[in-house]
Amino acid sequence: MRKLKTIIAASAAAALLAACGGGGEQAATTPEPEAETSAAAFAAVDTARISNAAETPEEWLTYGGTYDEQRHSRLTKIDTDNVDQLGVAWTYDLATTRGVESTPIVVDGVMYVTSAWSVVYALDPVTGEELWVYDPDVDRAVGVNACCDVVNRGVAVYDGKIYVGVIDGRLEALDAETGDVVWSTITVDQSKPYTITGAPRVANGKVFIGNGGAELGVRGYLSAYDADTGKLVWRFYTTPNPNKTADNAASDAVFASVANDTWGDEGAWTEDGGGGTVWDAIVYDDRNDRVIFGVGNGSPWNQRVRDPSAGDNLFLSSIVAVDADTGEYVWHFQTTPGETWDYTATQTIILADLPLGEDGATRRVAMQAPKNGFYYVIDADTGEFISGEAFVPVNWATGLDENGRPMEVEEARYADAPYLQTPGPLGAHNWQPMAFNPDLNLAYIPAQEIPQAYTDDPLTPDSVRWNTGVDFAAGLPLDPPEGLIEALRATLKGRLIAWDPVAQEARWSVEHNNAWNGGVLSTAGGLVFQGRLDGTFAAYDAATGERLWSYDVKSGAASGPGTFEIDGEQYVTITTGFGSAFTLAAGYALEETVPPMVGRVVTFKLGGNGFIETVDLPEIDRTPKGEPFGDEETLQVGLVQYSRNCMVCHGPLVISSGVLPDLRWSDYAGNAEAWAGAVMDGNLSSIGMVSFSDQLTNEESEAIRAYVLDQAHLAADGAGGSP
Ligand code: HEC
Repeated sequence: MRKLKTIIAASAAAALLAACGGGGEQAATTPEPEAETSAAAFAAVDTARISNAAETPEEWLTYGGTYDEQRHSRLTKIDTDNVDQLGVAWTYDLATTRGVESTPIVVDGVMYVTSAWSVVYALDPVTGEELWVYDPDVDRAVGVNACCDVVNRGVAVYDGKIYVGVIDGRLEALDAETGDVVWSTITVDQSKPYTITGAPRVANGKVFIGNGGAELGVRGYLSAYDADTGKLVWRFYTTPNPNKTADNAASDAVFASVANDTWGDEGAWTEDGGGGTVWDAIVYDDRNDRVIFGVGNGSPWNQRVRDPSAGDNLFLSSIVAVDADTGEYVWHFQTTPGETWDYTATQTIILADLPLGEDGATRRVAMQAPKNGFYYVIDADTGEFISGEAFVPVNWATGLDENGRPMEVEEARYADAPYLQTPGPLGAHNWQPMAFNPDLNLAYIPAQEIPQAYTDDPLTPDSVRWNTGVDFAAGLPLDPPEGLIEALRATLKGRLIAWDPVAQEARWSVEHNNAWNGGVLSTAGGLVFQGRLDGTFAAYDAATGERLWSYDVKSGAASGPGTFEIDGEQYVTITTGFGSAFTLAAGYALEETVPPMVGRVVTFKLGGNGFIETVDLPEIDRTPKGEPFGDEETLQVGLVQYSRNCMVCHGPLVISSGVLPDLRWSDYAGNAEAWAGAVMDGNLSSIGMVSFSDQLTNEESEAIRAYVLDQAHLAADGAGGSP
């Protein structure tokens, strides 16, 4: 019986992908001449070539476009006058219904792009024709370690090789021409819940890669590997080891002299590593031969649980600069001392020359709009704080002092009472890349307002996988009052903000229909491109914010778009897909109708007359599959255990956006045996649903089922909230 269920579930998933055109069929269109590629020169990239990337805008050589990561292209053939003629040149089906966050790299006539589960594709950038596909064959069970969906943000290219960070912690080098594995290195202790979702960066023969996992309990670090051999060159840890002793790593000296003293000797960090994962921004500063990287949140989030001594906890939530050759510490700037809200400083770091001096003299700065809601401008050479202002409403601090330290509101640390805070853990800005136009000196921030009531959690960190010290069940009603979902939705906002980093104020902003909006591309054609979760991909006037063009790409459009030029024709490209943190964890925020959830690469050009196929995914039968059972006490246990263990993937209040199954309408909810097989015995681990028997008793698992069925009947009766 259980086995049968598993097979049905697995083959349903397979059928779904086949329905999405997983066989690699093209929905595209205009036949185009083959791109010219010289057989000998695939990804023939060196450091000088990437350093020069701004001057060669025909290609897109590194995740952020250039080493400065400005995501600003000097291409001008598509401009404010003709952008309304943009049409689809081609599409390529990424055969996934999970989140896609990748920025395509275009080099030597080939596009390299990644999809969910770290699959790498090499495509013809003119036609979308598939050249090769590399699937690292990840064990789906590792998906449970991914806080925010099994996403990947892209590859790095260098010296004939393609580098990809795999979700299970591998770093791999592929032959750029064939996709064959050249070397594969394990960068993490795979017995711990580490993941890699970020794009590697590469310079001077080294590949730089970090990792994620701070929601589940790990110790963060950045590593440099030899680009030729995959051998570790250096590693910089972002938190001390539990004994505050040397690791024989590049970070030893600065921990001994400065950082160890910012941690106490007790607390969950001594067992769980303290967090501080380097999961996104890694910038090569080619003027100083340094790596400047962003450090994530504490593990657990709640500092009282993590480290009751209440020190600053370096290098959590910091921007850190190290020597690129040795990993030796150079400077740091901490955005959120004593981090306790999941306020990562991993968001896009952009290097730029800003006219900050008298008579317009420029100063080289690093800029970031991290989760905590303040826009920072710091000196790129020294880390000195220059200025910072809130770019969204914030209620946890009244501002920054002259050193850039936040002036906290006392209640915000939620010691004695819950505190309804903005920004919440999804941040004022998340992984969606921001861009900077150096001609206008404007940064374009995909900003969001997603508040969270932080409530102290007395749980021991080991009793849950998501180890945060924040109570996700607090205040959630068993019987959601009418209008609750609508009221929650109304608190969420998303906008594209054009931010003047010199004046530290918004020049213009565009309000979106949903909080979670997309990464940004800026071009010298006077344009800003940005997508939205509802599938709208749009171009705005860079100076005014006027919307000049938009197109329905029929899936979530959250990734950073890119642009390139081949044979005199400029293209704009974006990867689409419906998933990532917000869609998993905030399904209630979405209207009932969501776009078909199929990931693609969609590439546009002037006069393109292709189309994007509509995919009719199977309808979900929104009826409860069993009779309600369980008394009030059981249901309450179910609510609490569901909220601790399941909601981060299946959605709060048992409302899923549809990326993962909505358990209310699942056959499993009506079948005690099948349910126990999935939740306790791990029968579905091959498709990513692992056993929770270390977290739950059989009674608790059954109480969750009772709660799920109860919510199903409430929703089916039109009570409570939502679809
Ligand atoms: C890390 C993400 C994650 C968490 C946390 C999680 N699940 Fe799942 N769950 C999945 C995935 C992935 C699937 C399989 C999706 C698919 O069909 O491809 C799944 C499937 C299921 C199914 C089968 C549903 C169906 O109709 O096919 C059940 C039942 C289930 N989960 C229950 C739970 C319960 C109960 C919890 C909490 C104790 C939980 N899950 C926590 C990811 C998660």
